[in-house]
Amino acid sequence: MYLPQLLKKAADGEKLTTLTCYDASFARILTECGVDILLVGDSLGMTVQGHDSTLPVSLADMIYHTAAVRRGAPSAFVMADLPFGSYQVSPQQAYESAARLMSAGANMVKLEGGAVMVDTVAFLVQRGIPVCAHLGLMPQSVNQTGYRTQAKDSKAAQQLITDACALEATGASLLLLESIPALLAAEVSKCLRIPTIGIGAGVDCDAQVLVLHDLLGLTEKPPRFAKDFMAETGNIRSAVQAYVAAVKAGRFPGPEHSF
Ligand code: KIV
Repeated sequence: MYLPQLLKKAADGEKLTTLTCYDASFARILTECGVDILLVGDSLGMTVQGHDSTLPVSLADMIYHTAAVRRGAPSAFVMADLPFGSYQVSPQQAYESAARLMSAGANMVKLEGGAVMVDTVAFLVQRGIPVCAHLGLMPQSVNQTGYRTQAKDSKAAQQLITDACALEATGASLLLLESIPALLAAEVSKCLRIPTIGIGAGVDCDAQVLVLHDLLGLTEKPPRFAKDFMAETGNIRSAVQAYVAAVKAGRFPGPEHSF
């Protein structure tokens, strides 16, 4: 699948589903269960590699996992994270890193940051690389923010809206919003023409994403916004299908999974 087909689904009012995915077997299963976007997230630093943050993940790691996911799901829409340190120096550095992820099989790259990333987003988009921007809680900035809900006061909320509009204007095709108040995510989703993907951002985003290991009940201390779908279904396929059905019907996330 390519970006225009994905955006058409969202434009037709269908809620899009996203799950993180790091290997070929899960890529096949998630695709068979109807997941719209496979995110090769740098959360693999925690879920797969056992680190306590995403910071140690290298570009080589991301390329390895992106290629594995692509082999498992040849026609899936695959988004890959640009890891910490691989894109912040300059648009040129970002292009070189993003090109390697695209060559490994990604359809789109994701990067964290607001206004400071505008030139980089434009540089990538003008050269044929679709970009998903990531605002709110940005795990690559954990040393500044910790893992806390972001944009809770009106100044920070206004800054997030300004950043979101700037990223859209510069060519980002999707905007991921992590761990922000549901009302703010709803406002951003209403303001923007591009789809928003929420995680811990309420039900009014155009799409949802979860970390696969949280959904499967494998995470030791999952975030409050996550839901263990395995607990109520008992097997992997049913858990993923339950997540897909709940998102498509606007039943997940509920208020207990929002801020
Ligand atoms: O890396 C990742 O898994 C992510 C999610 C938190 C959305 O970016």
